[in-house]
Amino acid sequence: MARRHRIKIKTPVEIVKMRAAGHAASAVLVELSQALAPGRTTKEIDTLAAELMRKHDCKSTVIGYRGFTGQICISLNEEVVHGIGGPRIIQHGDIVKLDVTVTKGGWIGDNAATYAVGEVPPETKRLLMTTEEALYQSFQYAKAGLRLSELCGAIEDYVKSQGFSVVRDFVGHGIGRDLHEEPQVPNYRPQGKSPTLEPGMTIAIEPMVNAGVAGIKILSDGWTVVTMDKKASAHFEHTVLITDGEPELLTARPREATAEILGL
Ligand code: MF3
Ligand code: CO
Ligand code: CO
Repeated sequence: MARRHRIKIKTPVEIVKMRAAGHAASAVLVELSQALAPGRTTKEIDTLAAELMRKHDCKSTVIGYRGFTGQICISLNEEVVHGIGGPRIIQHGDIVKLDVTVTKGGWIGDNAATYAVGEVPPETKRLLMTTEEALYQSFQYAKAGLRLSELCGAIEDYVKSQGFSVVRDFVGHGIGRDLHEEPQVPNYRPQGKSPTLEPGMTIAIEPMVNAGVAGIKILSDGWTVVTMDKKASAHFEHTVLITDGEPELLTARPREATAEILGL
């Protein structure tokens, strides 16, 4: 049924609500990132996320989602995405991916970033910068009238030009009342016919980039995705509204807050 798979166009009133959800998601992400420090467990960060969500009058979208038990996804080093907070202690030199997804007023905002906790090797820094830059490059293609495949292909091309690999097993997505709506937004040029972007579409664009091979596996907790070769992986995500002109980042945050070494 074509209808079932149609990409939802949000109305102006719905966009106002998406904006509120997006702002809450980015505020929680930025405030949470400020709490990252060596010696803290990932569970402490997860618990703090719940407090920050209360403060910003929103709730975790992912807790309970298909049995997920975290308030957020928190993934270290070779963990790609979908890590769950636990007793693991954050160490100096770790890179930490925070993926914060919140529901506010029935609408969802989804965003993620990768943070270096203290000094990391130059190659790791380059991985973070490349991943964030791939996301930003994609915004040039987040325009009404263009095919989604051009946006996806731009991410792949940029990442490859830097000598890194894009994860193919997980993709970005449409977003709205539901966390994962049509269309899929892969980080590589998809085969076949691709939808044309239209004003009012809202999509979560989220490059996942590996320093080594693209391959991943899932740990025995059934959730945590890790790189096959145990090399580092980075992830950045924004919820983006397609407009008549420039895309609007519904989860906008100061760019300098990310892909940066956290001062300790
Ligand atoms: N925030 C994730 C995304 O970007 C959703 C993860 S679902 C979970 O799509 F259950 F793993 F949290
Ligand atoms: Co996310
Ligand atoms: Co997402």
